[in-house]
Amino acid sequence: MKIERHKSLKKYNTFGIDVIAEEFIEITSESELVETLSNTTEKELFILSGGSNMLLTQNLHSLVLHIAIKGITILEDTDTYVHVSVNAGENWHDFVQYCIQNDYGGLENLSLIPGYVGSAPIQNIGAYGVELKDTMLSCDAIDIKTGKKHTFSNADCKFGYRNSIFKNEEKGNFIITKVTFKLSKGNHTLNTSYGAIENALTNKGITNPTIKDISEAVIEIRKSKLPDPSEIGNSGSFFKNPVISKDHFEQLQKTYPDIPSYTLDEQQIKVPAGWLIEQCGFKGKRWGDAGVHKKQALVLVNYDNATGAEILDISKRIQKRIREKFNIKLETEVNII
Ligand code: EPU
Repeated sequence: MKIERHKSLKKYNTFGIDVIAEEFIEITSESELVETLSNTTEKELFILSGGSNMLLTQNLHSLVLHIAIKGITILEDTDTYVHVSVNAGENWHDFVQYCIQNDYGGLENLSLIPGYVGSAPIQNIGAYGVELKDTMLSCDAIDIKTGKKHTFSNADCKFGYRNSIFKNEEKGNFIITKVTFKLSKGNHTLNTSYGAIENALTNKGITNPTIKDISEAVIEIRKSKLPDPSEIGNSGSFFKNPVISKDHFEQLQKTYPDIPSYTLDEQQIKVPAGWLIEQCGFKGKRWGDAGVHKKQALVLVNYDNATGAEILDISKRIQKRIREKFNIKLETEVNII
């Protein structure tokens, strides 16, 4: 394995932020990873997967490990389901498309999410009524301190909304190398209840959709709303959708009768951050090369050469304004480095 020095990470993060890694190693196998870890105990490490959920605001003086371990293996194949293991360095969307081509069901709603497979469990990626936790059986990870492999079951991961054990008590302790899914064969359970999917299918006159139809509908919806990172740098939703109390929501409803919401339980309501940000007039605004996407206010964008600090500054201004106007605290979904 080769150590690259003074390497630009612009191509390695979907925001396209040009920061420098002092040292960078591309990891292509689990054994290479274990060997590297055993040789670098003194160094601070930075684990880089698809770079799709981070905002880099400074040069990295640590050793950057880019986890590029590839490969897909079928572990069990029956008439009704399949167990598929996929290595961390596979591109998420390519893996979803592989599943669609083989008629393995369960991940179609998660089409076109940027990033690698290895980071998908960390924030329990989700879209259009489906989350990774619905089909993930387990994931393998290497303990950074000991170099030992550990298998986490679905329950071990303590999944929540854009959350898992890897963002909490085990933060920074493990490197995910492989994720295993149980996917359906033949008799798929489809999830088409999300309004936008229903509309897209109806518009196409599809009443009995296949998983491929759903994947295509999701791709169409995402393309119509979300910027393609290969054209405009971004990290998808920059903020989480905040959860507020029912009382607080009812207060807001008096002033904003059209406020959209998802009821979580008797006491808690989730409000779309994109709507709140739009109400504050940020949607489509641009300062230099940094801005707020014109079709989805939840997404901050780098038009070309914005710095991480410029994007961070916009995010802070948005948080401040939302606090003032709605008394709501917006939390970032993206990791700020
Ligand atoms: N809305 C606005 N203005 C905007 C954006 C949204 O008024 O600029 C309103 C919409 O009209 C709608 C509501 O907000 O009433 C929700 O919008 P949308 O369906 O686009 O979903 P979202 O809540 O903004 C979440 C996820 C997305 C995911 C979609 C679809 C979070 C933080 N984001 O967005 O995830 O694709 O639902 O399931 O939960 C990501 O995590 O990177 C991501 C893109």
